[in-house]
Amino acid sequence: MRGLTVWFWALTSAAAAILGAAASSSSSWVADGTVLELDDSNFESAISALDLVLVDFHAPWCGHCKRLSPQLDAAAPELASLKNPIVIAKVNADKYTSLARKYGVDGYPTLKLFIHGVPQEYKGPRKADLLVSYLKKFAAPDVTLLDSDSAVADFVGAAGTFFPVYVGFGLDESLISELGLKYKRKAWFSVAKDFSEDLMMLYDFDKVPALVSLHPSYDERHVFYGPFEEEFLEDFIKQSLLPLAIPINYDTLKSLDDDERKIVLTIVEDEDEEKSKNLIKILKSAASANRDLVFGYVGIKQWEDFAETFGANKKTKLPKMVVWDRMEEYLTVNGSESIDGEDQASQVSQFLEGYKEGRTIKEKVGGSVSLTAFISSFIGIGTVYILVFVVATIILIRKATEEEPLRVGRGDKVDHATSSTAEAESSEHKAGEKED
Ligand SMILES: *[C@@H]1O[C@H](CO)[C@@H](O)[C@H](O)[C@H]1NC(C)=O
Repeated sequence: MRGLTVWFWALTSAAAAILGAAASSSSSWVADGTVLELDDSNFESAISALDLVLVDFHAPWCGHCKRLSPQLDAAAPELASLKNPIVIAKVNADKYTSLARKYGVDGYPTLKLFIHGVPQEYKGPRKADLLVSYLKKFAAPDVTLLDSDSAVADFVGAAGTFFPVYVGFGLDESLISELGLKYKRKAWFSVAKDFSEDLMMLYDFDKVPALVSLHPSYDERHVFYGPFEEEFLEDFIKQSLLPLAIPINYDTLKSLDDDERKIVLTIVEDEDEEKSKNLIKILKSAASANRDLVFGYVGIKQWEDFAETFGANKKTKLPKMVVWDRMEEYLTVNGSESIDGEDQASQVSQFLEGYKEGRTIKEKVGGSVSLTAFISSFIGIGTVYILVFVVATIILIRKATEEEPLRVGRGDKVDHATSSTAEAESSEHKAGEKED
């Protein structure tokens, strides 16, 4: 879905730019705190005149839409009062079907955030207060400069809990300005210019420059002391966008969407049990030593369908660990099928060792019928397949025109699939950067 959406953005933003230029005189749109009603006649003019518009594509008969509507009404005045105001608008997608089609609306309600006329899917919460704190991120500067301890505290407090927060101490803001821009939709960035030693104690760093990452909802904090060079810095930022061990649920699965790392998934009976909590601690320390992997966990009690996808049910010896490529295959490690011994820490290490040494067994995800639905809706597997197909076709055509002999044989298909996925991903990223 992502790939298509990106193309869509590119096309629609080009169209919006042309239309916007044509109708630039009529910029009578203001954020007055009411929810705008848009239709065929004024939609393009509104989204090109307003910097930030959250559009609710709804249908009059849809129950979820009716429940969402008062939340949007309540959020609108608060969003309108921001320094960079955000406007909420509604489109009756049942009536204005061509608008709905144009923006790929396939269900009601669909929320899209238009940033300078370019739409992106709104993935945040739908309750008024949470929606406001989520959307504020989009109206905030890429990197905020903070000049005192209390400014730091205010910034961290106001950031809410949806996005991680990065605070640079004794750091020149130019060092993170580029990455602040690149990841501005995923995290808050700030640089503290003036701060006390108390604050150093509070955030647990003992020298500068330091970049501190905070995950308010997971009570997690990491400190990076450098080197403040592109790749190291970006790796730190990318890897700390997610907490060390992430509980897998519908919402967090969405946030895994953009991460490229494989997922070490641990399936337990019940996430909330004391013994699971101990295991989660072990997983966190394994994660901090293996930041090239994402560590996630799920309880059968919390999400049975998801666990079943990886061959775990109530009869399975738990906890069970697998490595998932977030597509249709996962790996188990021969000899480390379950982590149910006395010394779970060494069992986890053995699992990781086995994985790294390739003592793995490939399995296909399966089990529940809901799988295809959730994977395709959250991970966008449908698009991945389309992209793989398109890229593979392009590669084949290129190869054919270059008159290079096509390699055939065992494993050929797999090689193609892997390399074309990689290409598909990297092209998505390029396209993704362009939106900024
Ligand atoms: C697992 O390891 C054992 C012992 O090394 C070996 O005999 C067996 O064939 C392996 N199983 C698979 C499925 O690779």
